[in-house]
Formats: sequence, C-alpha cells, structure tokens
Amino acid sequence: MHLRPGYVEFAWGHPDLHLLPLEHLRHAAVRALADHGHDALSYGAAQGPGRLIEQICARLEQVDGQAARLDQILITAGVSHALDLICAIHTCPGNIALVESPVYHFALRILRDRGLELLPIPTDQDGLRLDMLAQTLAQLRRANRLARLLYTVPTFSNPTGITLGAQRRSRLAEIAAEHDLLVVEDDVYRELWFDTPPPPSMIMYDQAHVVRLGSFSKILAPGLRLGWMMAAPALISRAAGSGVLTSGGGLSHFQAHVVAEYMRLGLLDAHVVDLRAAYKARRDTLVAALLKCLPAGCHFTAPEGGFFIWVRLPEGIDAAALLARAEEARVAYVPGAHFHVDGGGQRELRLAFSLLPPQEMVEGARRLGHVIGAAS
Ligand SMILES: Cc1ncc(COP(=O)(O)O)c(C=O)c1O
Repeated sequence: MHLRPGYVEFAWGHPDLHLLPLEHLRHAAVRALADHGHDALSYGAAQGPGRLIEQICARLEQVDGQAARLDQILITAGVSHALDLICAIHTCPGNIALVESPVYHFALRILRDRGLELLPIPTDQDGLRLDMLAQTLAQLRRANRLARLLYTVPTFSNPTGITLGAQRRSRLAEIAAEHDLLVVEDDVYRELWFDTPPPPSMIMYDQAHVVRLGSFSKILAPGLRLGWMMAAPALISRAAGSGVLTSGGGLSHFQAHVVAEYMRLGLLDAHVVDLRAAYKARRDTLVAALLKCLPAGCHFTAPEGGFFIWVRLPEGIDAAALLARAEEARVAYVPGAHFHVDGGGQRELRLAFSLLPPQEMVEGARRLGHVIGAAS
C-alpha cells in the first residue's frame, strides 16, 4: 500500500494500521514460542495445526450457533490463497466460473490467473439476482456446458456493502443443489457488523455445495496471511492432499500457532468488539460527510458492516474518467468498472472507510463532492 502525502486515499480497503493489536500479538508470539516453539517452527500438518482448528471450530460455534467439525476446516494463507487453492483442485483452465457482479476485483484476477471463463450474474439492492442465476444455469445446461463454481461475497459485500438476506440464501442453496454447483462464499467481513449480526453463512444452508472462506486479515492483521476454509470433509482432504500442502506442510504455520495462542488467551472477542465500534464510527462519519457534500443525483446506501460505501454518480458522469480530476483534487477511489467483468459500473465508485481517520474522510468527502459537482 502506497499512501501519498496530502491525498485522501479512499481506494484502499485495508484495516487502519492503528487498529492492529500489536502488543497482544507480540505477547501471543512469545507464548507460542515458549510453549510450542519446536512445533511452531517445524513443518506443520497439511490441514493446519489442530490447536488453531479447534479454536476456529469453537469460534464458529459462537458465531453460527452451530459447531463446525474438525474435518470441515483447513487452515489457509488467507481468502486469496484459499480461492486459488479451490481453483487448483476443482477447476481446469477453460472451465466456467460464475461471479456475482459487481464483485471483489482481485478475486477476478485470481480466477483469471487460473484460466477460467468468467460469467457475471447481476446483483440488485438486495444482492445476487437468483432469477438471473437460474436463467444462466438453464442456458448453460441447454448448451451442454457446466459452471464449475459461483464466487460470491454475500455478507457486507466488497464493493457494494450489500448483504444477501436469509430468503435469498435459502433459494441460492436450492439452486446450487439442483445444478450441483459449488458456491464459494467469501465470508471475510462476517464478524464486522455494526448493529445486528448478518444472516447465517451459506454453509448453514447446504454443507455439500458450499465452501466458506474466512480470514484473519480484517479482524486481526492482513500481514499474518492466515485464514481458513470450511467445506465438506472430502473437499478438505482433497485440498490437504494437494501437491503444495503435501510438499510444504500446513500454510502460514508459525502464524497459525501465534493466532491459536492469541485466541486461547481469549483476546479475539474483545478485539472484534472494539473493531466493530471503531468501523461503525467511521461509517457514520463518512455517511454524514457524504450526505452533506455530495451533489444531488448521487446515491448510496449506508452499509451495515464491512469496509465500503458504493456511490452511484449522477447520469452522464463516468467514474473512471472523473478519477483524473479527483486525483488533481487529491482524493482517490476505485472506479466501479474494476468490479465488473463485462464493462458495467461506469457510474459507480467504491469508497473504503476502514483505513482513514475520521477528519481525513470528512476532508475527502468535501473534495469528492466538489469534483462531482463541477462535472455535473
Ligand atoms: C472480499 C474480499 N475477499 C478477500 C480479501 C483478501 O483476503 P485475504 O487477506 O484473507 O487474502 C479481501 C480484502 O480486501 C476482500 O475484500
């Protein structure tokens, strides 16, 4: 991440560095080395250290109200790595991957690196459009083609902030079962809700057709490169039996020991509570500033969790073209087109409220409002 002095960088969806629990992680690392040093510094089990898997299962029981089994969890080097691993074991170049649209732009990069053909499924204000999903799957079936997976961020989406409701989740699970479609649920923002917890993970609706990807990047620190995958035991053992894990052992193994210790010490609960309050305050600051500064014709919805606000510009304004003028005014964002595979999103842009201190966001909203106003 490169932050330019004097710029308000709304483009980076990173946690604020001041919110990283440096002291507590240092303490956990010292304890992990003192108590499990030899284990922590050797090659680890392919599935990940049992100590962390047990902690994750216990936490998921707390989050979901339903226990995950040990054989349903694999430790990964974050969601990005987990998505790549799923592609490696479940797809071949040339296969079709369905992607919710708009969706996390770097996931599109990972899927493309694996040579997949990406077909967008549109979303509306309530998330993935299941009528369009069913229609696309029916068309593919008629053409004798198969979609290998659907990638979606149904909870506090990056980039839109939207959460798929319980009814649509249940219908999505039915469609996945009907078409034997693997739903890859990127669940990275689940714990960062502001007022009420989101609906259950997709995997609570169907354990056979859903892979749920979790991460410590947003709730602890992205530099740990640590996350987990929850899936049917057969898929977990296929992943654990992949060449990379057989050769190198479990991923981010030392970090996994540190985080297991951090969780064992009971530190994660309080930290997540603090993060919710901090990000909620930032969301409130940015929403208030945008309401005040954006000109008529701009629209956005306040997200109920996560890191992002998705802004729709007045008719006739192209977010990518406007970026040059925004940069001159020293404010930056990500144009909506980056989150589409088919050229949509020209009138939209993504703002992250996770990284910047409140005063900077207020100034950024002022600059943005001015730039949009001058273009309207
Ligand atoms: C939706 C989504 N998935 C995955 C990631 C990256 O996760 P990780 O650091 O666990 O690879 C991000 C980070 O911005 C994200 O927004």
